[in-house]
Amino acid sequence: MHAISVLGCGYLGVTHAACLAELGHDVTAVDIDARRVAALADGRVPFYERGLQELVTRHLANGRLRFTTSYARAAAEADVHFICVGTPQRGDGAADLRSVDAVVEELGPRLTTESLVVGKSTVPVGTTARIAERLRRTAPAGAGVRTAWNPEFLREGHAVADTLRPDRIVLGVTSASDEKVLRDVYARLADAGVPFVVTDPATAELAKSAANAFLATKISFINALAEVCEAAGADVGGLADALAHDPRIGARSLRPGVGFGGGCLPKDLRALQARARELGVGHALAFLAEVDAVNLRRRERAVDLVRRQVPDGIAGRRVAVLGAAFKAESDDVRDSPALHVADALRRDGAEVAVYDPKAMANARRGHPDLHYAADHRQACAGAHAVAVLTDWPEFRDIDPRELGGVVARRSVVDGRGALDPEEWRRAGWAYTALGRPAAL
Ligand code: UDX
Repeated sequence: MHAISVLGCGYLGVTHAACLAELGHDVTAVDIDARRVAALADGRVPFYERGLQELVTRHLANGRLRFTTSYARAAAEADVHFICVGTPQRGDGAADLRSVDAVVEELGPRLTTESLVVGKSTVPVGTTARIAERLRRTAPAGAGVRTAWNPEFLREGHAVADTLRPDRIVLGVTSASDEKVLRDVYARLADAGVPFVVTDPATAELAKSAANAFLATKISFINALAEVCEAAGADVGGLADALAHDPRIGARSLRPGVGFGGGCLPKDLRALQARARELGVGHALAFLAEVDAVNLRRRERAVDLVRRQVPDGIAGRRVAVLGAAFKAESDDVRDSPALHVADALRRDGAEVAVYDPKAMANARRGHPDLHYAADHRQACAGAHAVAVLTDWPEFRDIDPRELGGVVARRSVVDGRGALDPEEWRRAGWAYTALGRPAAL
C-alpha cells in the first residue's frame, strides 16, 4: 500500500484516484476548484463515467479516498504524486501546459522528503525533463524528489475498466528504484498479467501522443475512403468490414462516420505536430494535418447531406439532431462532431432540436441557441430531416415506423452508420448515410 496524491480532479484525476483506492492505496486527491472538491468530498462525481460514482462512494466511505484543496496535505500525506491536470489546446495548436506548471509550482516547495512525482497528463515530449529540473531547484528535498512519466490510455465511457484492466502500463523512468515504486503501485495489475513497457520519460511521453495520432489516422483513413466511396458509388460500411477481417488491420477505430472529436484526439493530434515543428521535424508529421482536414470535412459533408434532404431549404424548418456527446456512453461535448453539425445547421436558419441521453446539460451550456428536447421522439416531432450523429444504442433501437408518425418528412441522415438502412426504407424513410451510395 502506498500513500498517493492525485493532483487535478478532472476526468482523468478522479478516475485515477478512485482506481488507485480500488487497488488498495491510500489516496489524497487535490483540486484548486473548491466547489468541485466540496461536491466530490460529498460523494458527487461532476461528470458521467460508468462505474466511477460507485467507486468514489465506496472509497470515500472506507476512508481510502479523500478530496481536498490543500497541496500541503498532499505533500504531507503522500510520497507518490500523480499529475493529472488538463493540457488543453492553445491558439497555435500546441499544448497549454499552464496547469501542469502550476501543479509543479504548488507542490515543489512543499516536498521536504523523498518522493516521486509522476506525470499522467498528455504532454509534449520533453516535459518530464523540464519538470525534473524545476523540482530540483524548488523542492527542499532537492535530488530526493524524482520524476517519471506514466501516460494514461483510457477511453471516455470505459475509463474505470481501462484503468483497472489496461492493455499495457508504460513507465518512463530514469532509475531502477523509481521503476520499483511504480511497479509496486500497479502490483495488482502486474499480477493480473497486464504487460509493462519500461522506457525513458521522453519515450513514455511520446507513446501517448503517438497512440492518439495513430487512432486518429486510422479513423480518418476510413473516412477518406468514405469520400472515395461517395464518388465511386461504393459502400464504406462494407469496405470497413472487409478490411477489419485482416488481423493486421482490425475493426477497432475503423468505424466510418462523422469523425472523431472529444477532449483528446483532435488536440493531441495538433499538439504532436506543433511539438514536431518545434523540434525541427515538422515534415515528418505533415500528414497529420491531412488527418485533421479529412476529419473536419466529414462534418461539412454531414451538414450538406442534411441540407439536401429538404429540397426547398432548411431555413425555418425543424431539423432533429440525435446525439450531442462526442461519442456514446459519455456526456462530454468537447469538440463534438454532433454539436458542430447542429450549430452549422442552426446558422443556416434551421430550427435545430437536439436530444442526447446524457449530454444535455453540457450541450445546453455551450450551445444555448439550439433547442433541446426531452427525448428523441420530441426532438423529431415535425422535423423535416433527422440526423443521427452520436452512436448511442438507444438510437439504433428506434422503431422507424413509430418515429415516421411524428416527423413532417421521413428523411434520415445516418452520420454514424448506426441504423439498418433496409428497416428504415421499409418504413418509408429516405435513408442517407455518409460514405454510402443512395441506393444502399
Ligand atoms: C481516445 C483514445 O482512444 C484513448 O486511448 C486516449 O487515452 C484518449 O483519446 P476517447 O477520446 O475517449 O479516447 O475516445 P475514442 O473511443 O478513441 O473515440 C474518439 C472519437 O473518435 C469519438 O468521437 C468517436 O466517436 C470517434 N470514432 C472512434 C470514430 O469515428 N470511429 C471509430 O472507429 C472510433
